Amino acid sequence: MEKFYITTAIDYANAKPHIGHAYEKILSDVLARWSRFYEKDTFFLTGTDENAQKNDQVAKEKNIPTKDFVDKNTESFEELCKTLNLTNDDFIKTTQDRHIKVAQAIFKKVYDKGDIYKKTYSGKYCEGCEAFLGERDLVDGKCPEHKKKPKIIEEENYFFKLSKYEKEILKLCSSKNFIVPSGWRKEIVNRIKLDGLKDISVSRQGLDWGIDTPIDSEHKIYVWIDALTNYISALSYPAGAKYKKYWPADVHVVGKGINWFHSVIWPAILMSAEIPLPKQILVHGYVTFNGEKISKSLGNAIDPSELIDKYGVDQFRYTMLKDIPFDQDGDFSENSLKDRTNNELANDLGNLLSRTLSLCEKYYSGKLTKQKNDGLFEKLNLKKIEKHIENYNLHLALEEIWSFVRASNKYVNDKEPWKNEETREVVLYNLLEAIRISSLLLSSFIPGSCDKINSQLGIKSGTIKNIKFGVIKKYSIKKGDILFKKIE
Ligand code: ME8
Ligand code: MG
Repeated sequence: MEKFYITTAIDYANAKPHIGHAYEKILSDVLARWSRFYEKDTFFLTGTDENAQKNDQVAKEKNIPTKDFVDKNTESFEELCKTLNLTNDDFIKTTQDRHIKVAQAIFKKVYDKGDIYKKTYSGKYCEGCEAFLGERDLVDGKCPEHKKKPKIIEEENYFFKLSKYEKEILKLCSSKNFIVPSGWRKEIVNRIKLDGLKDISVSRQGLDWGIDTPIDSEHKIYVWIDALTNYISALSYPAGAKYKKYWPADVHVVGKGINWFHSVIWPAILMSAEIPLPKQILVHGYVTFNGEKISKSLGNAIDPSELIDKYGVDQFRYTMLKDIPFDQDGDFSENSLKDRTNNELANDLGNLLSRTLSLCEKYYSGKLTKQKNDGLFEKLNLKKIEKHIENYNLHLALEEIWSFVRASNKYVNDKEPWKNEETREVVLYNLLEAIRISSLLLSSFIPGSCDKINSQLGIKSGTIKNIKFGVIKKYSIKKGDILFKKIE
């Protein structure tokens, strides 16, 4: 069986999740579900980045013991996985022992290789990025991502010989499928060509939060080096069965701000440690909320759970996926959610189900046997949907599935089964099959609603094998509650 290993970034546990975090997790969940739909042995990992200095700083500002503080925030991220209906197979926390020992083992391996050395260094450190920044990274002297002037830090640190891997990394990053989409690939390639790769510091001195380096107890492992290893610690590297089965990752899903760490630093560490490289870095854009950047100062960093409580999880998932193509920045707005819920989810999909099932109950007491193929199924373009998902254009895949849903609505309007007795049974059976197939295709996107559809159709969910006409020999349907309530 083909395997598929997909990961999200692990979120800083210095605050509660925001809708940008939710977006990345939903995108990844759709890909994980779609892969299972194609009967691949799938492993989907998410988690939290607990050892960051900024977690410690915020905890201290709030006068809460750091461990309690990160535990509490991590809990919100774990709850969010449930609220979003994610199918993550594990949730890694980087203060867990299973992670700490792997982070240390990798550090030791790279050190033993001769790729870590000590030197005194002075540089500009952005606490938001948890990284030293070069002149090229700054805009008006500030970090453009966090809008803050970096701090000048001078310390004696351990350095990793990133420069040693420049040629190999440039080759890797230039290859066609490693960094997706191509705009972000070009950005990284240009940067390597312009500036080359310089050695980076991989330890911090004088901290009381973080993982000790295995070679010097005065030093903690630089948080990025520790965090990146979560992708293998969660699989119990090096001896674990999961590691053997799932590594290398098929895709690391990350936001555009952390592309460099995943496309350059992580592969270089892996090269040094002689570990196979991930196959792909999928870079997504940033989400804004009601037109504004998400930030604590604007007070709009609201917990996505609040929106889900108010409107429903599939309404939220659907709108995010439809409005925000992965390769762009996009806005999530409550107005769009309302419109999409009312027009697409309630009118197109919800009504198709309820009018079809009403007619089935009225004329056949909900029992229908297999009828001939009346051609509606030919309106489905599965190849196109597959292509869109392969290219991560989930909004276009949804649009394509929707054109089948709309064709089904047109079919029922044209055929008027409430009037035309002689074709009624054929038409209704064809409609049930169209709804079943739509539900199968949509189950990666709006899984909860598809479960409801399936239960009203009286069938179980299925895989790609069931995307063909005439699978169900006998329907025994039971009309239930409406799928999507309209929002005023
Ligand atoms: O970067 N829209 O954590 P993080 C979309 N701990 N995605 C967004 C976003 C937005 N407005 N804001 C952030 C970290 N993200 C590190 C990762 S991985 C080994 C360590 C994305 O909490 C961001 O780009 O700042 C990243 O992919 C993820 O959310 C976590 O961000
Ligand atoms: Mg961030």
